[in-house]
Amino acid sequence: MIAANDRVLYEVRDRIARLTINRPDKLNALDRTTMESIDCAVAKAGDDPAVGVLLVGGAGEKAFVAGADINELAAQNPVEGTAYARAGQAIFSRLEGLGKPSIAVIKGYALGGGLELALCCTLRVAAETARMGQPETALAIIPGYGGTQRLARLVGRGRALEMILTGDPIDAREAHRIGLVNRVAPPAEIDQVAEALARTMLSRGPVALRYTLQAVHEGLQMTLAEGLSLEAALFGLTCSTEDMKEGTRAFIAKRKPAFQGR
Ligand code: COA
Repeated sequence: MIAANDRVLYEVRDRIARLTINRPDKLNALDRTTMESIDCAVAKAGDDPAVGVLLVGGAGEKAFVAGADINELAAQNPVEGTAYARAGQAIFSRLEGLGKPSIAVIKGYALGGGLELALCCTLRVAAETARMGQPETALAIIPGYGGTQRLARLVGRGRALEMILTGDPIDAREAHRIGLVNRVAPPAEIDQVAEALARTMLSRGPVALRYTLQAVHEGLQMTLAEGLSLEAALFGLTCSTEDMKEGTRAFIAKRKPAFQGR
């Protein structure tokens, strides 16, 4: 395991990059140093052609991430608070725009900035013991790293508003029921579940994964007509790849395809 620095661990094995937020004594709370380290590790995963999928997790069993660091938050004035939110949003948006699938592996608490981090991942898996919420209103602030926007887009306005306005966390089963997480498993099995999801995606055409992410993320910010136009253009691009020829040939020959990512 390579330490990007001691706040974030980063390693790559068999095309899967693993980013682990490593501040377990503070339940992996996100202070500035940790945020900057996340940004560096995400950039590394994006730049490395050997990486096909990124797994994001927290050190220890107790927390994925228990939120932005409240000690830092407490010292913000209005101008600093806006800049703080914008800087964090930019880091999380770079994760969302990685161009490769990412999976948040949630064990224990994913609260506030922790849930917002998970919302920027492509998929989320949770241990049965996980608890997820946006408790900011209990501190008399609102989510600032994208929670008011991405949570509502993922689970719908009513459920997002309930979670943010009450601040009450939900358990993994409820998160699965409302579509906040994609898989739930016992804590001892959740890493394998995440890895299996990653391996499935790694077996698919990498360019097709990239364009799917682009079509869905950009398309959701467009009108339906514009989104369909983007989809058609990207579909046409996939028709020009070597991988498309390999994928269709392999199907006809009844063998597994060997994709090159071009
Ligand atoms: N920022 C800074 N420190 C945090 C933190 C956060 N968001 N969340 C937890 N910690 C620290 C605690 O201060 C404590 O540090 P200490 O041992 O030096 O006192 C340590 O992590 C362990 O947390 P603790 O509260 O003792 O654990 P717990 O099991 O009793 O409670 C939580 C767990 C998650 C319920 C509780 O830590 C909590 O409510 N955290 C804040 C969640 C939140 O509001 N997040 C949104 C922030 S905008």
